[in-house]
Amino acid sequence: MSTVLRNSGARWNALARWLHWSIALLVFVQIPLGWLASTWELSPAKLGLFAWHKSLGILVLALMVLRIVWRTTHRPPPWPLAMGRGERRAARLTHASLYLLLVLLPLTGWIVNDAAGVPFSIFRLVPLPSFVGPDEAVADAVARVHHGLSLALVALLVLHVGAALRHQFVLRDGVLERMLPSGRRAR
Ligand code: HEM
Ligand code: HEM
Repeated sequence: MSTVLRNSGARWNALARWLHWSIALLVFVQIPLGWLASTWELSPAKLGLFAWHKSLGILVLALMVLRIVWRTTHRPPPWPLAMGRGERRAARLTHASLYLLLVLLPLTGWIVNDAAGVPFSIFRLVPLPSFVGPDEAVADAVARVHHGLSLALVALLVLHVGAALRHQFVLRDGVLERMLPSGRRAR
């Protein structure tokens, strides 16, 4: 690890790292699951795929609420000193957009489900509250938004993972390591 980071000694704490990787895992499942469910022929399997997509999506929303609480009450580790102003701004903007998309995607999915008039229980346990009511035009319009947001998410993730790999293999500044699940507890 670079001197810069060794000196600062800061990492993401255990809860922040757990939230990052569990949400990342869920999102990596959610995107293909959404595409698969949408394109599958009408059948019980399609409904099953959608049920998982919706339940896991609401789980992402719940974890994001927790993550936003963590983030607004904790200070993130400092940027490596070698990172320029432009790079810091790009990282901040990408991260903020990821936060926004990971809240808007479940919310728009929820509205689509609600406006389509489909009663749904999260993991077959908790009925998903309805706040829009059946409305086909709303369901169609918001489904297009949900689709557009998912494409934006894929683009940002390519950028995000690319940046993480650049930090690890080109800059070698320890930015990836401080987010990895293992290691000593952060303060
Ligand atoms: C669906 C997948 C992912 C999502 C939604 C995601 C989202 C995020 C977000 C929102 C942050 C900012 C944290 C904050 O400022 O509070 C972050 C940080 C980070 N992510 Fe991801 N991430 C994903 C996958 C990955 C992958 C696959 C890698 C590594 C290859 C990675 C590496 C990192 C690193 C190293 C940081 C910390 C950057 C720093 O210390 O400033 N992420 N991620
Ligand atoms: C992290 C959260 C989520 C992600 C990344 C995500 C992603 C996706 C993707 C990639 C698609 C396929 C897009 C298309 O081709 O139209 C899709 C479709 C869909 N998703 Fe989600 N989704 C999320 C959460 C949710 C939630 C929470 C619900 C409902 C409670 C939901 C309901 C739907 C529905 C109903 C469709 C089909 C829309 C249509 O009729 O075209 N999604 N989602």
